Amino acid sequence: MLPSRILPGPMDGVTEGSFLAAMTARGYVRCWHAPFIRISTGIPRQARINDHLEPYMNQRLPVIAQMMGTNTDFLAGTAGRMLAAGAVCADLNCACPSPTVIGNHSGGARLRDPEWIARTLGAIREAVGERPFSVKLRIGFDSPDEFPRIAAAVRPAAPDIVFLHYRTVREMYRPVQNGWERFLLARECLPDSVLIACGDIQSPQDAVRLAELCPVDGIAAARGLLSRPSLLRDIEAAILGQPPVSTDDKLCFLLDIATQSGRLPKANNGFILRLARSMFGEESDVFKQLATCKTVKASSEWLQEKLEIAF
Ligand SMILES: Cc1cc2nc3c(=O)[nH]c(=O)nc-3n(C[C@H](O)[C@H](O)[C@H](O)COP(=O)(O)O)c2cc1C
Repeated sequence: MLPSRILPGPMDGVTEGSFLAAMTARGYVRCWHAPFIRISTGIPRQARINDHLEPYMNQRLPVIAQMMGTNTDFLAGTAGRMLAAGAVCADLNCACPSPTVIGNHSGGARLRDPEWIARTLGAIREAVGERPFSVKLRIGFDSPDEFPRIAAAVRPAAPDIVFLHYRTVREMYRPVQNGWERFLLARECLPDSVLIACGDIQSPQDAVRLAELCPVDGIAAARGLLSRPSLLRDIEAAILGQPPVSTDDKLCFLLDIATQSGRLPKANNGFILRLARSMFGEESDVFKQLATCKTVKASSEWLQEKLEIAF
């Protein structure tokens, strides 16, 4: 179903537009995991799902489509339509910790109701038959102690992939000491699942350390891609004992983003600056210079000049 088990994590507001195009063009990803579509009032029309997935499908890589909601029947129906739209896998988000999402009893809030998880995954399995679906989890809502019950709810429907962020919903994105050890508990509770680990994988060394700590089946990295777009490729290289992609590549990547953004109707410099901050830090010359650029075009010109000097 997927060409690699070293995957990009979905990031609403980030894995879109110029970022998708630049990452795909450079061969930094082998598939895309689209951010969630909210399912609240019914099963969306096929055309709406096609539109939502179109930017991902246009990359011509396998796409995992994600949905979030509370109505079992709507979610099961949506899964079928996501696959009909060409997604290789329909994913149910039971992980998002955003207060708005939790307020709607959606995303990570679903972890409080393992019976609902069992029912909904069962309905999705029935709707998709042998075709692939997955679930994205956190280790619990309040505590990792909840995981054995959550896992017991997941197992009967046998999702093709379980994505697991090791934090609880309450922990949001805060540091957790020895957090990755929780994958050992998850592995024990889900011995037969394809378990993809998420959370704080920022370097190839992190991926190797995690794999040594726990026999997960793959990893997904999200925020690390903002500071190191070549991260997934560098992890693959590390596994094969090859050197990472050169760090000069980061400037080329920013120029790609500026060039791609310039082609979009709502080009804005904000995303270029956000990436420059992640990649080089706020004190860097690159960030400071780009902060003085008022337009995407000006950023693009500055980056071009900088790269000409560098090479
Ligand atoms: C800005 C942002 C948006 C995100 N959007 C989604 C989303 O739509 N669906 C999802 O499953 N996870 C989403 N996530 C969570 C990430 O995919 C990932 O699981 C989490 O950030 C932990 O991994 P990391 O430490 O590698 O970032 C988002 C994370 C961030 C930072």
